[in-house]
Amino acid sequence: MVKWPPVNPSDEDALLKAFRSGRWGRVPGGVVEEFEGEFAKYHEAKYAVAVTSGTAGLLLSYLALGLNEGDQFALPAYTFIATATAGVMLRAVPVFIDIDPETLNMSADSLKATLEEDKDNRIKLVVPVHFSGIPAELSEIINASRRHGAKVVEDAAQAHGAVYRGRRVGAIGDAGVFSFQSSKNMTAGEGGIVLTNDYEVYVKVWSYHHAGRDINGEWYVHRLIGWNFRMTELQAAILLSQLKRYDEEFRVRERNAKLLYELMEGVEDYRPVKPPAHTSSSNHLLPIWISERLISRHGKARVVEEARRRGGEVVEGYPMPLYRQPAFKDSYWRLPDYSRLSLPVTEDACRRVIWIPQHVLLSEEETRRTAEALIKTAKELS
Ligand SMILES: Cc1ncc(COP(=O)(O)O)c(C=O)c1O
Repeated sequence: MVKWPPVNPSDEDALLKAFRSGRWGRVPGGVVEEFEGEFAKYHEAKYAVAVTSGTAGLLLSYLALGLNEGDQFALPAYTFIATATAGVMLRAVPVFIDIDPETLNMSADSLKATLEEDKDNRIKLVVPVHFSGIPAELSEIINASRRHGAKVVEDAAQAHGAVYRGRRVGAIGDAGVFSFQSSKNMTAGEGGIVLTNDYEVYVKVWSYHHAGRDINGEWYVHRLIGWNFRMTELQAAILLSQLKRYDEEFRVRERNAKLLYELMEGVEDYRPVKPPAHTSSSNHLLPIWISERLISRHGKARVVEEARRRGGEVVEGYPMPLYRQPAFKDSYWRLPDYSRLSLPVTEDACRRVIWIPQHVLLSEEETRRTAEALIKTAKELS
């Protein structure tokens, strides 16, 4: 079994070194800054701000890009709730877009249709999510958003190192946000980072995460309303160490994902979701569509339970479209009534898509075991 998070000797040495330095919080010239530089370079971005979580990174980038009270922002309904709640915190209103069944990412066509209907330009921000690590269709999404005058934040929480048309994701839109929460391909238990090529956005995000100080300013002068969302040196030490071997792990996950596709070839009950040819996935998750035949008879939970009993490592994934989450009914936030919204592909994905987590793909043996368990499950449930 591949243990996750990884207990790696090099990470341990790096962590101890930071611990013994006695500098645990962010300091000028410290490890957080070094990590920001290296992570930005790896993702071909000019600027990076390391923060406490992906959620914090989303909130601060939405704010830096001008998302305001009463504005709308478009996002897929098949994502983690933070993509939405970061904007809700600014009293902006989520507009949910359906996904493409081939990638499970925001459908560019559905987005275009929604933007066309938005005659009075209330949608100020579009948030494509690189779900599972497969890049969203950024060219079309960014072009449509620009035409509408909307900014784009890539939710790259799951997409460390993923490639879209020859470029790593994260700074292709106006900003991009990654997460280092425990399950992610790189992790320090918690953490996040914002990437951007826009200096104005960078200095704003930096200031917001640092109590509203100027990046080169004095300690007790606060020019913006800001908070403390700073990453610690201890987190950055672990992440910097992980980044050094990230390319290698990326390739291992990719190799085992391809192995899984081969093992599933011709198996009628399963259709793995594969990255389009012009992309490379980070393989944070390997999503699999289960056949209608199997689902209508047994349901997703049963298939997952049976596969796990046979040694497969699979999870059920999102149980419902985001707009059905009870949280959105909380009257305090004065959100629209989504009860009549039904996005067909999102609904179907919540019913029929299961996920293999990334750490399984770090081992050929575990990948094979999970594929075999799924195949056996389908045979025996038939
Ligand atoms: C798509 C997506 N967006 C945002 C987040 C939020 O990241 P965090 O948990 O670091 O706040 C996550 C992960 O948890 C995620 O998967």
